[in-house]
Amino acid sequence: MKLGKQFAIFASLGGAAAFWRMECRGQVGQARLDPLINPGGVSSHAHVIHGSSGFGAASTYEDLLNGDCTSCAVVQDKSAYWAPILYFKHLDGSFEEVQQVGGMLAYYFLNKDLKDPNKPITAFPNDFRMIAGDSTRRNYSVAGLDPLLPDPPKSDWASKGQTNQHDLAQRALGFNCLHYGGENEPTLYRHYLPDKAFLDANCKDGVRFELSFPSCWNGKDISSPDHKSHVAYPDTVINGNCPPGFDVKLPGLMFETIWATNAFVGVPGEFVISNGDVTGYGYHGDFISGWDANFLQAAVEQCTDGSGMVQACPLFTVLSEDEQRKCKMQLPPSVVNEKVTGMIGESLPGGLAIAYGPGPAIGAQAVQPAPAATSASANLPGGVFKELPSETPEVNALGAAEASSSPTPTPTPTPSDPPVPAGYELLRTDYVTNGNVVSKIVVIETVEYVMLATETVTVTATFGADKARRELHHLHGRRHGMH
Ligand SMILES: *[C@@H]1O[C@H](CO)[C@@H](O)[C@H](O)[C@H]1NC(C)=O
Repeated sequence: MKLGKQFAIFASLGGAAAFWRMECRGQVGQARLDPLINPGGVSSHAHVIHGSSGFGAASTYEDLLNGDCTSCAVVQDKSAYWAPILYFKHLDGSFEEVQQVGGMLAYYFLNKDLKDPNKPITAFPNDFRMIAGDSTRRNYSVAGLDPLLPDPPKSDWASKGQTNQHDLAQRALGFNCLHYGGENEPTLYRHYLPDKAFLDANCKDGVRFELSFPSCWNGKDISSPDHKSHVAYPDTVINGNCPPGFDVKLPGLMFETIWATNAFVGVPGEFVISNGDVTGYGYHGDFISGWDANFLQAAVEQCTDGSGMVQACPLFTVLSEDEQRKCKMQLPPSVVNEKVTGMIGESLPGGLAIAYGPGPAIGAQAVQPAPAATSASANLPGGVFKELPSETPEVNALGAAEASSSPTPTPTPTPSDPPVPAGYELLRTDYVTNGNVVSKIVVIETVEYVMLATETVTVTATFGADKARRELHHLHGRRHGMH
């Protein structure tokens, strides 16, 4: 295992600024729990939970702070991050958990409100809560657009009337087809989960779910009845202008989770999110801040290293990946005997039916009680929350320093252009589209040196992401590499 450090070289984001990437390599639990939607009870669908071990059916801010560990990288972050699990439904009707690759990453983008760039970013207040996405949604309804087509350029969204919060929320979801070594898709490029045939044919390294949270706040409520209406998206989702009444700019939170859909290539069946969603339009996620607001404020002001590495921030106490993975929560009796991982039988957890849409999935919020202990689950020492067997692929979502030590075949990013300087290793290349600027993120690794290199590709014409990417690809043919 290499001890190299990873550096993300984040090229210009059109004036956008620093960020950090909260790695959450461990899962504190997987269960039908949701302290925001079903406080004290059982959720209609199963979640994978990251962050503080103090998470529970009704966890409060104090509970999260009192958790004795976190499955994320920074000791001071006792937040809770949770989102649905992805399953695979086999032809015989049985469901199987799809493996998460490398846990979850929570990006904290420190982008200013475009209309007021001198206004500082405000940390999440203590106990701040919010939800992104809508579990019942099963269609894409932005301006009658074909959901299969890429978005128009961001600079056109306002003039086309596509900056209302309903539209932005649908564009805050991304399903990124991973094929390392090939051309990467931009973040939040596709807003639906591609079908099995597409995934099999194109996404040999799996699929990355992306979920961007609103980052404009009304400045007074730590939550709201729907856990949404106290916040709003800026007008191009991750960046842009905050709408009136939501004038306090928070860090822009974005979850990224890679699912090993590639483990099912050639296996007949379909992928379904735990809330009975095969479309992806109903993907969602929840957050309760478990930061101390004063500490987070200092981090927002001081952790502005362009690498995005939490290790680059002197304020953070960073945990090893092993420590993150060791952190587990105590499952409450209501769900401790319910099997939600591995092969889980003939229905989704909670007995939820698949809802194909396009109408809303009414049942997605209905709550079934969790089963009592059965002889099958009683046979499992430690209940259903048994550690996954060691053949589970454990691949660092960044392309993984430890990928070489993994016991299973792991996606090895193929070096692509530009050439990586001697002494460095290319881990990953990503593109982020912001208006007409396509920014390239080159993640490289070195053992001894701090590499400071940037490459900015500015596409000045007003074309969309798809054409921009082709243009970018073309540009690369003539590019001589990083400098
Ligand atoms: C699309 O989804 C929305 C939100 O769930 C719903 O209100 C609307 O009825 C759906 N459209 C169709 C055609 O079913």
